[in-house]
Amino acid sequence: MTVHFIGAGPGAADLITLRGQSLIASSQTCLYAGSLVPQALLSHCPEGAVIINTAPLSLDEIMDHIQTAHDAGHDIARLHSGDLSVWSAMGEQLRRLRALDIPFDVTPGVPSFAAAAAALQTELTLPGLAQSVVLTRTSGRATAMPPNETLENFAATRATLAIHLSVHVLADVTERLTPHYGADCPVAVVWRATWPDEKILRATLGTLETEVPKEMARSALILVGPALAATGFDESRLYAGDYDRRYRPVGTDPRFPEGTE
Ligand SMILES: C[S@@+](CC[C@H](N)C(=O)[O-])C[C@H]1O[C@@H](n2cnc3c(N)ncnc32)[C@H](O)[C@@H]1O
Repeated sequence: MTVHFIGAGPGAADLITLRGQSLIASSQTCLYAGSLVPQALLSHCPEGAVIINTAPLSLDEIMDHIQTAHDAGHDIARLHSGDLSVWSAMGEQLRRLRALDIPFDVTPGVPSFAAAAAALQTELTLPGLAQSVVLTRTSGRATAMPPNETLENFAATRATLAIHLSVHVLADVTERLTPHYGADCPVAVVWRATWPDEKILRATLGTLETEVPKEMARSALILVGPALAATGFDESRLYAGDYDRRYRPVGTDPRFPEGTE
């Protein structure tokens, strides 16, 4: 029997992969991180499935539920918000499953930074302005940042930053970034991207209203960088009419003549 780790997506119930949905439908036990995973996804569970919200549980308690389901011969759908590759606490569960010799697999999901960029209708990498996106956060009560992973260090690159888990310290974030990006650098805050109550705030580092109501002090992404509001950027060379490429040979002596691999 297998533990299926499934990225549940950013919030909207139809932003799960087809594979994720069918694994939920074929698993007799479902463990879901109730703080951010939409309840609507649980409607895919089969009739009579054991469904457990892991938000109030410790890692030991979660592993006990997995062991119990495994002993009962159940497949287990393990749902975490967004994608599993960032801030999902999947790593520690996989380590324990390896030690227990319980098989697992991993199905990716739509990460919240991609959902926020879609809500902003923005490409985060634009020619000449930003070719990197840094997924980061600030220190929290439970998690300290490694010493070199400071906002200042990332800001020195002027890449697009997608800052998670930090909307409660918005004033501190803007203060630390302004010396690097400048007060006129665009910033956007997206709360609960793709949920029905999604909210978007666009401003510059100098004009952003950093006092947010208490109920909006979580579940938001802060996106910062010149790409966010740029209009005068270069077009990508890849699609330029005179750019000779494998899939569109151009000129009398193309690098990749048609029919070559
Ligand atoms: C524990 S992390 C989970 C990240 C998740 N694994 C992902 O792929 O995005 C939770 C943080 O992700 C961000 N987040 C998650 N869902 C979001 C959403 N729908 N809209 C905006 N930010 C979201 C917020 O910064 C939140 O504090």
